[in-house]
Amino acid sequence: MKPFVIAISGSSGAIYGLRLTRVLAELDYDLMLTVTDAARIVMNEELGMDIQDLSNADFLNGLFSPKAVERIRYYHYKDLLAPIASGSFHTAGMVVMPCSVSTVSQIANGASQNLLERAADVTIKERRKLILVPRETPLSAIHLENMLKLARLGVDIVPASPGFYGMPQKIDDLIDFVVGKVLDLLGVEAELFKRWRGGLASEAGNTGQFRGVSP
Ligand SMILES: Cc1cc2nc3c(=O)[nH]c(=O)nc-3n(C[C@H](O)[C@H](O)[C@H](O)COP(=O)(O)O)c2cc1C
Repeated sequence: MKPFVIAISGSSGAIYGLRLTRVLAELDYDLMLTVTDAARIVMNEELGMDIQDLSNADFLNGLFSPKAVERIRYYHYKDLLAPIASGSFHTAGMVVMPCSVSTVSQIANGASQNLLERAADVTIKERRKLILVPRETPLSAIHLENMLKLARLGVDIVPASPGFYGMPQKIDDLIDFVVGKVLDLLGVEAELFKRWRGGLASEAGNTGQFRGVSP
């Protein structure tokens, strides 16, 4: 099977992209990964990491199992000679997770300043699947217009906005809800989140645990 391109940009929620990468790699999918410098800063801030250098793939060893790392081909975000910078290299699609609104804008306007943006531009021009997972709030009209423009081109916009109907118990459940939605769009079966199975609370296994929770 052709590889998926995974890109992690510098919005809050780097954990989403890392979890997606881990799940796909452990399911034996081949991945081509790039990480922006802003994502590196966010990972250090949010996840307590200490990644000083993106110039080689060493940092992946601290994040994933050896089995998962074997599935990942890593490219520096400034490496415009990477295979994914060209449409002649075939991929099964691309996910930008999380996607900063800055990167949304660059992609929406065809302005490719780095490998992530170029790979997304290629994915659109080659009419392959492109999924963006923006994380920003509130959204300005600029952000919304950029997303609408991309949605009209067939790009999937999947806001990092977990549902609560599966009765999440921990942060991992919230992350897996969003990652699971992306996997659904990629056609990958992983069953990371509880699906809605109907409106009756008892049938859905809904204990109503959030009822009465103080705002
Ligand atoms: C800790 C931290 C959190 C951030 N969170 C967001 C965010 O949630 N959404 C967003 O669009 N940008 C966020 N930013 C700003 C982006 O990192 C910034 O716009 C950067 O230029 C994006 O670059 P990139 O898209 O090339 O990764 C955050 C920055 C930092 C340092």
